[in-house]
Amino acid sequence: MISWRKHYKKGLIAISLLLSTGASVYAQGDPKKGQELFKANCTACHTLDKQVIGPALGGVVDRLKTEQNLDTDWLHKWIKDNKALRESGDKYANEVFEKFNKTEMLAFPNLSDTDIDDILAYTTDPPAEEVVADAASGDAGANSTAAIEAQKAQELNSKIVIAALIAIAGLLFWLLLKIRQLVKLQQTPELSELNTTRVTNFSAMYEKYSYVGKGVVALLALFALYGVWNWLMWVGVYKGYAPEQPIYFSHKIHAGENKIDCQLCHSGAKYGKVSEIPSLNVCMNCHRSISEYKGKYIEPGKDREFYTNQIKTLYAHAGWDESKQAYTGKTEPVEWTRIHNMPDFVYFNHSQHVVAGEQTIINGFNAKQKDPANKIDVVCKACHGKIDTMNVVQMANNFTMGWCIDCHRTTEVDMNNGYNKEYFKNLHDKLKKQYGEGSKITVDAIGGLECGKCHY
Ligand code: HEC
Ligand code: HEC
Ligand code: HEC
Ligand code: HEC
Ligand code: HEC
Ligand code: HEC
Repeated sequence: MISWRKHYKKGLIAISLLLSTGASVYAQGDPKKGQELFKANCTACHTLDKQVIGPALGGVVDRLKTEQNLDTDWLHKWIKDNKALRESGDKYANEVFEKFNKTEMLAFPNLSDTDIDDILAYTTDPPAEEVVADAASGDAGANSTAAIEAQKAQELNSKIVIAALIAIAGLLFWLLLKIRQLVKLQQTPELSELNTTRVTNFSAMYEKYSYVGKGVVALLALFALYGVWNWLMWVGVYKGYAPEQPIYFSHKIHAGENKIDCQLCHSGAKYGKVSEIPSLNVCMNCHRSISEYKGKYIEPGKDREFYTNQIKTLYAHAGWDESKQAYTGKTEPVEWTRIHNMPDFVYFNHSQHVVAGEQTIINGFNAKQKDPANKIDVVCKACHGKIDTMNVVQMANNFTMGWCIDCHRTTEVDMNNGYNKEYFKNLHDKLKKQYGEGSKITVDAIGGLECGKCHY
């Protein structure tokens, strides 16, 4: 029924497009595919109906045609590489750049012409609301599977604890019975005679039944040992650590719902040792114009007002006066609680992994995923887990030495990337001789297990 209606709508659209002559030029794309692409690439800065960082894009093809006499060719060039277009001296490209205070739009050289046609079809003719609803419930579904997994793990944990408690309760009950038996043994008149002969005094009786006490003590000792061992194993390991932050900043809303690239905020990852937490300037690039939360996604137990208040907290820290649309100069840095923190004697370098190691880490990670479809920032996820589904960042791995080494033993070195080709040229030839042509060269072969590489 619904699908018939969709076809019916498509039919109507097709007919109306055929009737309106000029329109058919740009309506070649598939608006549904376009919607996906738009969500993945453009929603960080554009919506259809409202100016965000860039202009509203609903009906942009028509608007540029009528106002500027520009056709889809121009749009293709602009979307692929707006900077190149501006630098070629294109009049409107420079005008609109000036109008938006020289805010750089990203270039999208990876989008094909068909992709762009699809996106433009979407801006011209967004699919009906029911499709949007589908997408939203799909997200909610993904959400709840993650939640269910977490819950399952938690349930298992509490089951173990409950089983242990039941065992202890059983032990105590058994002990009680034994003691009652002992007491009864002494009280029954028939036995009291025997007692005088067989159990002459308490110490003899204790001797007789001491194995009970010893057994219990041994069991309790085992329990205690197990507890201490567990505790020792987890000292300094904070997998799952997720502290409260001064601003409720949701990665799910930013990196998940709005598909903002990790490295837009954590730009340090590419260039050096640390990824860095973004400064408030980075936040304000977007939040000068995003002052309220209007998103579809709402975490259970929160509401839009809650999110909007968090944006106001950001304004207070950044010293942004909303009514005057100006900075007051009164700023107060946000003290984010650090989550990942290696001991001082460990050297870990992001760029080594995010740049040199990127491709092989992605390959290794994808091989383990059931659904490698989500391609954004895969390299980060290999170590940090699905941050884009977390409202509050959690440590997704235990970040121990064993964890680093495990990956170095199993992940290949990408001998073909520019950096390694240059750096390991001689070593590569040597390794090929040593391990044989075509063999897997894993990180341990280039020194990834040497103490000095990771320890100062
Ligand atoms: C990082 C933010 C950002 C992203 C991501 C982005 N844009 Fe833009 N876009 C802008 C800004 C800002 C402008 C205004 C012009 C300028 O400052 O360069 C703009 C302008 C445009 C224009 C010109 C509109 C007009 O009214 O003249 C089009 C078309 C456009 N963007 C399409 C896209 C498409 C399609 C995508 C996704 C593939 C996209 N943009 C992604 C920031 C962005
Ligand atoms: C819009 C900006 C923004 C984007 C996009 C973003 N982050 Fe963050 N990230 C932050 C801020 C702010 C914090 C500090 C607050 C917190 O822990 O939530 C943070 C914290 C983190 C932390 C924990 C840092 C610590 O203290 O150890 C990790 C790991 C992280 N982000 C990874 C990612 C990954 C992976 C992505 C992409 C999927 C991503 N971030 C996208 C802003 C961003
Ligand atoms: C690239 C643009 C961009 C950047 C950079 C950015 N945000 Fe956002 N932020 C958004 C968008 C988009 C939303 C969702 C708005 C909506 O759906 O109405 C949002 C929502 C929020 C919200 C409400 C939802 C939530 O996560 O609690 C807060 C708070 C927030 N941002 C804080 C920050 C902080 C703090 C930073 C800097 C560390 C930051 N943002 C950087 C685009 C950005
Ligand atoms: C090979 C594993 C690995 C990869 C890949 C990785 N990280 Fe990390 N990340 C770590 C470790 C380990 C730390 C702790 C570093 C420390 O405490 O010195 C960390 C710390 C961080 C922090 C906290 C601040 C800091 O730099 O200490 C942020 C933010 C972060 N990572 C973001 C990212 C982002 C974004 C990506 C993808 C571009 C990424 N990471 C890729 C392992 C990784
Ligand atoms: C997801 C897999 C993965 C994890 C986890 C990982 N690494 Fe690596 N690491 C790599 C890869 C791949 C390379 C090779 C990069 C290259 O091509 O230079 C590498 C290289 C290195 C190197 C350089 C080795 C050399 O001889 O040049 C150091 C140092 C290093 N990692 C430290 C660490 C530390 C410390 C940790 C844990 C906190 C860690 N790594 C966790 C995949 C990983
Ligand atoms: C791939 C990186 C890497 C290599 C290689 C490496 N370590 Fe570590 N080591 C670590 C990390 C990361 C930690 C911190 C673990 C933590 O905080 O739980 C650590 C911790 C330690 C500790 C402190 C005890 C502990 O477990 O917390 C000792 C001791 C140590 N390493 C010795 C060595 C020796 C000796 C070698 C050489 C045989 C070596 N490491 C090689 C990454 C490495």
